[in-house]
Amino acid sequence: MHENDRQPRKVFIRSYGCQMNVYDAQRMADVLAPEGFVEAERAEDADLVVLNTCHIREKAAEKVYSELGRMRVMRAERAALGQNTMIAVAGCVAQAEGAEIMKRAHGVDLVVGPQSYHRLPELLSRASREKVVDTDFPADDKFDHLPAASRAKTLARGPAAFLTVQEGCDKFCTFCVVPYTRGAETSRAVAKIVAEAERLADAGVRELTLLGQNVNAFHGEGPDGRIWGLGRLLHRLAMIPGIARLRYTTSHPRDMDDELIAAHRDLAELMPYLHLPVQSGSNRILAAMNRQHTADDYRRLVERIRVAQPELALSSDFITGFPGETDADFEDTMRLVRDIGYASTFSFKYSARPGTPAAEMDEQVPENVKSGRLHALQALLEDQRQTFNRSCVGRVMNVLFDRAGRHPGQVAGRSPFLQPVQTEARGIQIGDVVAMRITGNGTNSLFGEPVDEVMEAVA
Ligand code: 5AD
Ligand code: SF4
Repeated sequence: MHENDRQPRKVFIRSYGCQMNVYDAQRMADVLAPEGFVEAERAEDADLVVLNTCHIREKAAEKVYSELGRMRVMRAERAALGQNTMIAVAGCVAQAEGAEIMKRAHGVDLVVGPQSYHRLPELLSRASREKVVDTDFPADDKFDHLPAASRAKTLARGPAAFLTVQEGCDKFCTFCVVPYTRGAETSRAVAKIVAEAERLADAGVRELTLLGQNVNAFHGEGPDGRIWGLGRLLHRLAMIPGIARLRYTTSHPRDMDDELIAAHRDLAELMPYLHLPVQSGSNRILAAMNRQHTADDYRRLVERIRVAQPELALSSDFITGFPGETDADFEDTMRLVRDIGYASTFSFKYSARPGTPAAEMDEQVPENVKSGRLHALQALLEDQRQTFNRSCVGRVMNVLFDRAGRHPGQVAGRSPFLQPVQTEARGIQIGDVVAMRITGNGTNSLFGEPVDEVMEAVA
């Protein structure tokens, strides 16, 4: 009997960390589907469990090992019922720690780095005989070998989809493991991105979020043989019938070129929301981080983008307690936050990562100081988020409905500014973009009602 004729096997993939891991998890599921794997809802039901890991901070990386401990127990329970379970570690911890994982966590069958997902079927069949570690950076493009999801599966994943256009990073911020785990910057060819976007649109996708560790450094080969930047790519993708919205994440301030800024002015499909991490507001710390810009460079850049798109809502990442950060440096960060005004943000305590230059720096900041600053910063950022959300009440904005709501009868979607919006209005289908008047502001979502005044809606 052919393997695929047997009962379907079940795979459970748990992703940690960034959106690229969410996208990669889908692509892993897609490459396993022709092998007869269907997705399980729970690890307990799976013949194959994949932990798609994140290495960015110590806490994220350590989570993998505690999760692997739980998986071992689960595997023993399944074995008692006569069921086999394979355990694979993928993602950035796999890439960074490779064979170390096999040593530290018994019971792992396969360690596979992000550049090798297209080889999963072959690696799994090897892993059924021996322990396998594959963390190479192969010369060939994995995307050429990763199959597309079926139309039904794309549809089931909803009308807002991720699409990786760029991977890796050449910036070498001194705190960051990404240049080591994800390697050098590479961009996919425009024709391949367009083909994937068209396939997604054809299945009902309305919104694309272009992903890359440094997505605005995108420089892919265009169909005309020239190198295209992200601005030009966005214009091309906006032409695809059905695509109503475009976003991209995550960006570096140094790579916001004129063409990309102009796209925020000229392209109605490009949402007025930008995640533009600054990390710190202190010039001294920015230099020590190797960010290659000053706080005022960032202020001026934001000003230019806001001139191009006056509706722009901003988001950022921040780190508190980078080595050498003084109270005065931290005050500079607070001042920058007050000057800019953010709609939503992510902020973290500095975490020393092995192999990065900052981990070796003198003047590591004590944990309690990092925490104190993080709390103060987060209080200010939360205040700004709430102020922004309150300012949306009474406004009309287009909402893309992408899922069932929290309560029966509700549907939920996203505003142009990525805020969750709930409504009880009847007749709205998943995939609809509807002009909504925002009527209320809850803790985690806005509430709204449909209006007919499409003309006055934001984005
Ligand atoms: N410690 C704390 N935060 C970090 N980030 C990256 N590396 C570290 C680290 N070593 C944060 C940065 C980055 C986000 C993805 O994670 O703010 O923008
Ligand atoms: Fe890390 Fe800096 Fe590259 Fe972002 S730009 S992935 S923070 S090295």
